[in-house]
Amino acid sequence: MTTSTIRRVRGRRVWDSRGRPTIEVDVELASGVRGRAIAPAGASRGSGEAVDLRDGTERFGGQDVMMAIAHVNKPITMRLAGRDVQDQQAIDYELIEMDATPEKSKLGGNTLTAVSLAVAQAAAAANGVPLWKHLAQGREVTLPLPEIQIFGGGAHAGQRVDIQDFMVMPIGAWTFSDALAMVAEIYRAAGDLMRDAGKIAGVADEGGYWPLFASNEDALEMLVRAIEKAGLRPGSDAAISLDIAASQFGRDGRYRLALEGRELDRDGMAEMLVRWVDRYPIVSIEDPFAEDDRIAWIAFTKAMAGRLQVIGDDYLTTSAERVEAAAVDHACNAVLLKPNQAGTVTETKAALDMARKAGFGTIVSARSGESEDTAIVHLAVGWNAGQLKVGSFARSERMAKWNEGLRIEESLGPHSQFAGFDVLPFRRPAAAGGTR
Ligand code: PGA
Ligand code: ZN
Repeated sequence: MTTSTIRRVRGRRVWDSRGRPTIEVDVELASGVRGRAIAPAGASRGSGEAVDLRDGTERFGGQDVMMAIAHVNKPITMRLAGRDVQDQQAIDYELIEMDATPEKSKLGGNTLTAVSLAVAQAAAAANGVPLWKHLAQGREVTLPLPEIQIFGGGAHAGQRVDIQDFMVMPIGAWTFSDALAMVAEIYRAAGDLMRDAGKIAGVADEGGYWPLFASNEDALEMLVRAIEKAGLRPGSDAAISLDIAASQFGRDGRYRLALEGRELDRDGMAEMLVRWVDRYPIVSIEDPFAEDDRIAWIAFTKAMAGRLQVIGDDYLTTSAERVEAAAVDHACNAVLLKPNQAGTVTETKAALDMARKAGFGTIVSARSGESEDTAIVHLAVGWNAGQLKVGSFARSERMAKWNEGLRIEESLGPHSQFAGFDVLPFRRPAAAGGTR
């Protein structure tokens, strides 16, 4: 028995940022060292994701996780006790084998995600280093360019606007802390503008303002005004990033924009998005089309070549195979990486490695249901993903992650490196200028 031998794996029910039950896992080592992780939960999920195991009983609207906890406390702990916690890949493969379903429905994607991340945390703790350092394995790291939500919509705001995330990327920042300071001013400015216009109805699930806009494009105009009001230059200091989350309102090549009372076909949808990219300083669009609309993805990515980051979230569901297929198709040029879409740290890393091989941009991402767990920040830094998406600049389950990034930056000292515009999978147009 060594200091990194697993003694016990323990699950417990805790509560996520929407007040729903979720599973927390402790991996305890023979040495007494412990690693801990909490599973997040999505609300706008892709059909290819690992599925959460929920009890389906009357308690908490069927959302309870007592079955998941029982799996951790009995079969998983029996299987992993005595194993070396440093062997992440072998442990993850064992979890996958124990589950033996393509969508991880037997043990639960939530169960496996929490166990796998807790194993990673325990391995780092056994080595006496933070998770990012454990994952970096001596390689130099770069703080990620943040993608931060200002307005929330779609499934996170009662479908009040169709588009799910209106975000900013502080592409002109020189450091991670500078990037957050810029966004703090933009978030505040947007709040002031919204209040003045009487268009604010609180905050959405990820902390962005819950907006009362008359059209989706109103949000884009307001975002540009907020960047300006913050004293920044739209497109060179801070640019716009959108998550259309189009699977939420599109199917079979048709897209229903409820807010505007109209339906678009895939060409109409593409025209609208191209017009937005022409008119506003947009550098990144996630899930521009539904996950079943492969032709539209391919045509759009071709049309936007050299101008835009096109991210697959529901389209790729953190799957190395899907990333590989999308690279062959040229269906997008970036992947969103959510550990609980894949189910284990090893599979998430495999999707990242595949994306990197394809020259894709890589964005580590939180879910709309989150907690105080900050592991994803460490994944983004330790794996040098280059980009991080956590939600907005409010609510502590979001701020815990941004603040963790600040601590990591500080620990790296004055020469820490920050990923700027260059992490996007296209080149900055000469005309855009910029401060970097
Ligand atoms: P989620 O969506 O609600 O499934 O976490 C977030 C996203 O679409 O990026
Ligand atoms: Zn998304």
